[in-house]
Amino acid sequence: MNSGQERRSFLKKGLLGSMGLYGFSQHDPVSLDGEQYPGFQAPPATGKSVIDLKVAPIKQVKVGLIGIGARGSGHVSQFAALFPDKAKVTAICDIQPDRVAKSAAKLKEKGQDAVTYSGKIDSWKEMVKRDDIDLVVIATPWRDHVPMAVYAMKQGKHVVIEVPAALTIDECWQLVNTAEETQRNCMMMENVCYGDEELWVLNMVQQEVFGTLTYAEAAYIHNLTDLMLSEKGYYDFWRLKENIAHDGNLYPMHGLGPVAQYLEILRGDRFEHIVSMSSLEASLSESIKKLPSGHPYSGFKGTIRHGDMNTSMIKTNKGRMITLKHDVVSPRPYDRINALAGTHAYHEGYPSRLSIIDKGHAFLKEADYSEYKSKYKHPIWDKLKKEIEVNGGHGGMDFVLIYRIIDALNNGRPMDMDVYDASTWSSVIPLSEVSVNKGNVPVKFPDFTRGKWKEKRDLGIMKSL
Ligand SMILES: NC(=O)c1ccc[n+]([C@@H]2O[C@H](COP(=O)([O-])OP(=O)(O)OC[C@H]3O[C@@H](n4cnc5c(N)ncnc54)[C@H](O)[C@@H]3O)[C@@H](O)[C@H]2O)c1
Repeated sequence: MNSGQERRSFLKKGLLGSMGLYGFSQHDPVSLDGEQYPGFQAPPATGKSVIDLKVAPIKQVKVGLIGIGARGSGHVSQFAALFPDKAKVTAICDIQPDRVAKSAAKLKEKGQDAVTYSGKIDSWKEMVKRDDIDLVVIATPWRDHVPMAVYAMKQGKHVVIEVPAALTIDECWQLVNTAEETQRNCMMMENVCYGDEELWVLNMVQQEVFGTLTYAEAAYIHNLTDLMLSEKGYYDFWRLKENIAHDGNLYPMHGLGPVAQYLEILRGDRFEHIVSMSSLEASLSESIKKLPSGHPYSGFKGTIRHGDMNTSMIKTNKGRMITLKHDVVSPRPYDRINALAGTHAYHEGYPSRLSIIDKGHAFLKEADYSEYKSKYKHPIWDKLKKEIEVNGGHGGMDFVLIYRIIDALNNGRPMDMDVYDASTWSSVIPLSEVSVNKGNVPVKFPDFTRGKWKEKRDLGIMKSL
């Protein structure tokens, strides 16, 4: 046995033995060159590409929402704000009756009568079958996203899915194939792509302020410990359960989405492979030990798989590098990093700072920074200024997201992000988990576009306002 074979054998016996990976069984071969795993090769196409999909304009988009929790209840208000000119919330569904009742009452105050569905685990199916729904919005725990989205597209509805869109490579292909078969829009609701800072950086990239882009750093660093352990937090502790069962980057999109747009991923470049490593797990275990008796997780004896910090590196086809971090348990301030380096400029977020090649070796001083800020501000933030002030949502990015979804459907325009973005960004979850569990090996990305990533095309948010 040569050393490569020995290493493979060790990895199979030692590391795969105790895994419960997203969509991979312990017997699935993931070769050390990271290519050989189920779903790496594209399955046969069952429809035609939905890149730049145009559908007949819908004057007033009828919206049905599933999952009216912390996130979904905000969505109800934001879609309702576009009534009557652009949209109408016709139905809402949550397994918990009090959630729908509360949102339905708020809708009524705004003159919108929504039909409500609740009580059963699959009440949403009845809602999705309705004829008076054009768009289904999914804001449930992660495991439900794909079954709900696939079912909705098969009922002829467009879908937008909260982040992440999917958890496994098989689920990513299900979204792609169903969107292609049904010719429906399927977009992941990556709100951070609409942030003021992110759109400003994107605008600077496109106007060549950064020169040749070389690398980026992004993150989701947000201490969710209290929320994950609170009995009043996530429904049925769904997020805690994901962190107990899985290691890797479980929530990459908020940092990665904007960076993927800066780097024109799937519009001339693509993610080639990922390498991922996790730290020791300690914070969640220590917090669980302190839970009062009577709490459902008090005395929990199981293993928590998710290391406190996960760091992944992604190499792109053009040779660029993205460093991606995920930490939802350490006592650190919130951070998405939002760093981008080019041959002429460098930006770093938290707080936002910019340095420019011919303006010295430090970040720009306030006056120079402000000049760049106003010169390259994305025009959508001026266009929607008044509505953003009223409707807000994560500083306004949530309203811009909802507005753009509805505006695309009102005008029959392709949505700003498509099912290929949703699947590619989400695939970081299972691929990082495989890399971590196999000793940080490189794992290649599937090509969900089936070769179309090579075609250069403009981002919707940069061409039609
Ligand atoms: N983009 C963002 O900034 C952002 C912020 C927060 C959450 N999220 C995402 O939104 C989603 C929901 O997160 P959350 O924080 O609102 O969680 P949550 O637990 O507060 O809400 C989930 C809701 O889904 C309902 N639900 C569960 N199973 C259901 C079923 N079978 N049918 C109908 N309803 C069902 C629950 O009752 C609950 O009200 C997640 O995907 C999360 O990642 C995104």
